[in-house]
Amino acid sequence: MKVLVTGANGQLGFDVVTELDKRGHNAIGVDIAEMDITDKASVKRVMREIEPDVVIHCASWTAVDKAEQCSDIVHDINVLGTENIAEECKELDAVMIFISTDYVFDGSGDKPHDIADKRKGLSVYGISKVQGEDIVTGMLDKYYIVRTTWAFGRNGNNFVKTMLRLADSGKTELNVVDDQIGSPTYTPDLARLLVDMSETNKFGIYHATNEGFCSCYEFACEIFRQTGKNIKVNPVTTEEYLKLVPQQATRPLNSRLDKSCLVDNGFEPLPFWKDSLRIYLKTVFGYGL
Ligand SMILES: NC(=O)c1ccc[n+]([C@@H]2O[C@H](COP(=O)([O-])OP(=O)(O)OC[C@H]3O[C@@H](n4cnc5c(N)ncnc54)[C@H](OP(=O)(O)O)[C@@H]3O)[C@@H](O)[C@H]2O)c1
Repeated sequence: MKVLVTGANGQLGFDVVTELDKRGHNAIGVDIAEMDITDKASVKRVMREIEPDVVIHCASWTAVDKAEQCSDIVHDINVLGTENIAEECKELDAVMIFISTDYVFDGSGDKPHDIADKRKGLSVYGISKVQGEDIVTGMLDKYYIVRTTWAFGRNGNNFVKTMLRLADSGKTELNVVDDQIGSPTYTPDLARLLVDMSETNKFGIYHATNEGFCSCYEFACEIFRQTGKNIKVNPVTTEEYLKLVPQQATRPLNSRLDKSCLVDNGFEPLPFWKDSLRIYLKTVFGYGL
């Protein structure tokens, strides 16, 4: 199978290419230097040259707070960029896998969101991902939309790296929100599932995260517990945190996603987040060796 992976220098894209290579697929990873997704002509040229069977579209604007000041660029990348890819997938009859997010929901209630729940992005980023989803569902029949949350992997920035950096910078105390609940997701685990999906034709919308839910505060505590770092973590509400660090995008409080659609379609669920965190801390940072 010939698979084009966009955003191949990012957290998820990098691990998707690695997983495809491991399984003997013909993986072609591209990032902005090889194919700027906002440049229609570039997308057309590269995709027609490659003629992929599947496109795993991991490229995206992901800086949630900064997005509030750059809505035009965010729209270009997350909406028009997605449209450029979808158009070529349609032309080439390729399957498109679009990676989406819990930010398409407003995070109300405390039950895990069903795939069919009403979407309402609260931020520039969230709204752009809703529009990206709509483009994919409106243009294609052979697609997967895979919503995930709180990604951490080897490449790029993530919450785990931020917590470790703050602890290593000598901070002895941190405030972390305890009313935003979701699931940390290890990108190699998600990459394995995306490749599983690409090998089937069980198209549709899915939620995919590591198993288990926690607050950001609990996530931070577990990172410091597993790495043996002695740092005091204070639980604060989002409201309190916003007074300390203003100018943030509005985030959903409830990012729990119902993943029953995975099992219903015969896909293997991802491991529990604490187990994957342990593997990440060991393989990338050498903790627990
Ligand atoms: N990270 C999370 O916590 C999270 C949570 C839920 C869902 N997701 C979704 O998961 C997917 C992958 O996220 P990630 O964490 O792997 O993101 P990431 O690390 O930020 O990677 C995104 C990649 O896309 C590239 N890119 C940006 N603009 C581009 C353009 N115009 N043309 C081509 N490539 C471009 C970026 O390059 P530059 O770095 O050079 O800009 C980067 O390499 C995204 O769809 C995201 O919305 C992520």
